[in-house]
Amino acid sequence: MQISRKFFLTGMISAVILSASALAQMDSGTPHLQRQGSATQLIVDGKPFLIVAGELSNNAATSIESMEPIWPKLVAANLNTALVGVSWAQFEPQEGRFNYAQVDGVISKARENHLHIVFIWFGCWKNGTSSYAPYWVKRDYTRFPRIQIDDGKTVSISGPVELLSTFSEATRDADAKAFAALMHHIKEVDGAQHTVLMMQVENEVGVLRDSRDRSPAANRAFAGPVPPELMKYLEAHKDALIPELREVWAANGFKSGTWEQVFGAGKPTSIQMPIQTNAAAIGALRHEGDWLKLNWPSDEFFMAWNYARFLDKVAAAGKAEYNIPMYVNGWLQQPNHAWPGSYPSGGPLPQVHDIWRAGAPSIDILAPDLYVPQFDDLCARFSRGGNPLFIPETGTSSANALMAFGKYNSIAFSPFGIDGNRPIPAELAATYSILNQLTPMITAHQGMDSITAARLSQGDAPKQVKLGNYTLTLTYTGRATHIPPQPIGERIPSSFFAPTATAEPPLEAAAILIATGPDEYYFAGGGMTIDFAANTPGPKNVGLGDVQEGKFVDGNWVVTRQLAGDDDAQGEILILRPNTILRVTLYRFP
Ligand code: DGJ
Repeated sequence: MQISRKFFLTGMISAVILSASALAQMDSGTPHLQRQGSATQLIVDGKPFLIVAGELSNNAATSIESMEPIWPKLVAANLNTALVGVSWAQFEPQEGRFNYAQVDGVISKARENHLHIVFIWFGCWKNGTSSYAPYWVKRDYTRFPRIQIDDGKTVSISGPVELLSTFSEATRDADAKAFAALMHHIKEVDGAQHTVLMMQVENEVGVLRDSRDRSPAANRAFAGPVPPELMKYLEAHKDALIPELREVWAANGFKSGTWEQVFGAGKPTSIQMPIQTNAAAIGALRHEGDWLKLNWPSDEFFMAWNYARFLDKVAAAGKAEYNIPMYVNGWLQQPNHAWPGSYPSGGPLPQVHDIWRAGAPSIDILAPDLYVPQFDDLCARFSRGGNPLFIPETGTSSANALMAFGKYNSIAFSPFGIDGNRPIPAELAATYSILNQLTPMITAHQGMDSITAARLSQGDAPKQVKLGNYTLTLTYTGRATHIPPQPIGERIPSSFFAPTATAEPPLEAAAILIATGPDEYYFAGGGMTIDFAANTPGPKNVGLGDVQEGKFVDGNWVVTRQLAGDDDAQGEILILRPNTILRVTLYRFP
């Protein structure tokens, strides 16, 4: 069943009416979202699916020939899915004439390589700007108007602002028509086979170089009331709103009225937007170390509403043809892009998630392009209000991949530019192999309190994690593959894990931890030891019963080594070496 975000966010089960065609799609195994506990899972052919992926560089798949050497690279690194751009310009070079060759080529090559695809619709917007719009759109300034910034200028400090404006039905309808044609075709060629799992609608939308569109149509809307649909949503969810938005509304007295009455003053037009906010200071507005503060939220909220409404129409037109899950992605606010306009203003950032929910019920997921070091914090901020986590763009950190799926119930993890010049790190390939093997077990536990993940950097103090009937103490060991035997009752000295003089950076240790029974666990990942303390009544001491290193083959556990002695500190401490899966049973003794 296709569960819209609005549905599970509000819990209004009775509001969801399954049409005959939706039921038919469910029966046929069409990709759809389904709630399990606190998680939302992607179900493909009746089974939960983890998208263990990479995103191709923007134009890699515009040529099927130049993709030839890339497919084996993806397979060798154990990806199960590639995120692939579809250029509107290439898809509809002349208005109403669609070119399906690229999409068909990608689908057929993916099948040959046993891969799945998530297509990215590079329609009106890509990184805020409109470089993928077809020539017939670009050259028609009248029918397809651009945003205006700085009180009417179309040229900013750094050149022309080639951004299509959301304030144009003609633009919206042209984009929606093309997207609908794409979805119609995907259903025709893939409706039975499900190589295509999901769709990304546009890419990193939002206004750049100003905090909002200042074209005459935008100014009129901005001076008018906040639309009743949005006010109604805010009132209905007043106590459950994302705190950042609620604080802004509260500071303005929970009013209704114009955008500035409800959310405060917009940016004065006298202030020009720098490209990066840590470059040139803008007088008193500089807020070094204060980059998470919201500036001119009324402008950003206004743009979020208008992008949400526009993209909702595009997504809805596509879903009417083929109803598979759809998401939008956001360029994040960050220290050097701290003000709306230095990051695309109005994109699906955490502070405007409620506005996107209210404005774009056809979009299932609001996703982060997660390049900032605050990885866990952003995962948590993108998981609020029931928003499923989906990471379409990020770096190649294995620890982040394990954390995303194990702790934050992510549907996808996908480093950007995976086809690039550099090889895909062996560490990531090994982690991807583990994730693929473990998918049935991870997805069986996601959304419950029997699964989590933890990370440790070199130098971190041991971490305690309560899971199942035991409290686990995780201690960093890094890349060490040989752990010296210790006398019974003595710990391995931490000096053993001190930095070594190698060129290799220290391993970031991380593991997915799963309690599969009262005294049974699986651990996957590595770079740490694990001690157990019982947290239920009974004998105080905990011993390691069976310790097995192994792998999953077709979902079945296959033991590769049975461990004891030096490999589990004489039965006292579990040693989880990098890139391993361990199954352990525990027992208690007085
Ligand atoms: C974010 C964009 O969404 C991608 O398409 C790509 O341009 C990367 N940035 C480049 O780092």
